[in-house]
Amino acid sequence: MPTVFIETYGCQMNVSDSELMLGTLAAEGYVAVDGPEDADVVLLNTCAIREHAETRVIGRLGELRRFLKKDAVLGVTGCMAQRLGPRLLDSDSRVSLVIGPDGYRALPTLIESARKGERMTSTDFDLEEHYEDVQASRFDGVKAWIPVQRGCDYRCTYCIVPFTRGNERSRQLEDVVRETAAVVAQGLTEVVLLGQTVNSYHDGARDFADLLRAVGAVPGLQRLRFTSPHPNDFSDRVIAAMADVATVCEHVHLPMQSGSSRTLKRMLRRYSRAEYLDCVARLRAAIPGLGLTTDIIVGFPGETDEEFAETLSAVREIGFDDAFMFKFSPREGTPATRFPASETVPEDVVDARFDELMKTVRGMSRDRNFRRVGERTEVLVEKEARKGELMQARSRDFKTVLVPGDRTLIGQYLHVELTGTTGSTFTGQVVRERKALPTAG
Ligand code: SAH
Ligand code: SF4
Ligand code: F3S
Repeated sequence: MPTVFIETYGCQMNVSDSELMLGTLAAEGYVAVDGPEDADVVLLNTCAIREHAETRVIGRLGELRRFLKKDAVLGVTGCMAQRLGPRLLDSDSRVSLVIGPDGYRALPTLIESARKGERMTSTDFDLEEHYEDVQASRFDGVKAWIPVQRGCDYRCTYCIVPFTRGNERSRQLEDVVRETAAVVAQGLTEVVLLGQTVNSYHDGARDFADLLRAVGAVPGLQRLRFTSPHPNDFSDRVIAAMADVATVCEHVHLPMQSGSSRTLKRMLRRYSRAEYLDCVARLRAAIPGLGLTTDIIVGFPGETDEEFAETLSAVREIGFDDAFMFKFSPREGTPATRFPASETVPEDVVDARFDELMKTVRGMSRDRNFRRVGERTEVLVEKEARKGELMQARSRDFKTVLVPGDRTLIGQYLHVELTGTTGSTFTGQVVRERKALPTAG
């Protein structure tokens, strides 16, 4: 039987796409293997969000030449494939397939052609494509990634995603509910709904509030999460659904990008600092104990010291549990690359701001975490921790908690007391086990 190895870069949407690719190939008799050395087909499912994401892939392609079987088919898929298309074939003679996010259905036939020596690019967008009939081969045995929307209709000026994923489209609510019921039947009890602006979900008749209520009520589902929402799409209806539906976890990853209204305007984020703060306030008022994480970009073109100070003050005012922080990376073709060169923030300034932001975010999240020691909470055991003898579990509000135990605990819900913290992750002692009880339908 032919073997395949898929290496995934980038966001959860890409992880989910890799599961769909593997599902497509498994249906044709392919077997997944753990490394590139033994594989007949090697696919790198790539990310284009920042330059660094792409240089990693280029480096990996160079490295792979040494490992690949002589007649192995090497393909590049995902966002970098979509962005660069045939340029990838030109730059690397070993690559024979370049397939964008809407082209995975044809994988088996494209691979067949590649075996015969052809080199191909498939980067057409298909606004109907949701891989509805493909059975995903899931990598995770505890939680399921379920895409509910593909593409993005925002046009943030720094962002490559609209170029790599095309316009926004949503799946039908019934299809998402059916997939949720199927994964629960397989024993997975946590579902994460995926979309670039997931709360703008609309299937023509039902919005994200309807979706949360419908998916959240699937019998046996314990935890429902979603990522990433956009602040502008948190209608009162959506927030009310989050508060009402017991399975929806008390955590929101809400990308802020900047705390300065002027920067946000140049980013075309379509909200001001005040509107972001208001969104946070509405969420916190509706959902007690809400964990809040975010994304922040530093060094966006034209960012002044004053604007950056507004980001720092927003971080202090809000008190995030954690943040992903990024240095602005210009992406070919995006509007931000057309700002005057004089707007470019010098590298040493970007570095200094990044360090200051990092210190501020980490310091605040440390303080928040130390205050939590002694609390009790429910965790779901996900996997073995890197440190021996411990298992890695997660609370509903998205804290990582290390608990003693072994692999038999994976998938179990435990009540733990938080006994300590490094400042970022916690250690916990089991107070009592809780078997996964079916929630009311
Ligand atoms: N759709 C999501 C974001 C997906 S990209 C949303 O709108 O929230 C994940 C994060 O990468 C973004 O939130 C942003 O902080 C960061 N990012 C995107 N483009 C970037 C760029 N050109 N340079 C640096 N960071 C970037
Ligand atoms: Fe990119 Fe903005 Fe769309 Fe997010 S909302 S994917 S940052 S364009
Ligand atoms: Fe990267 Fe594409 Fe996701 S650019 S962040 S893999 S949508």
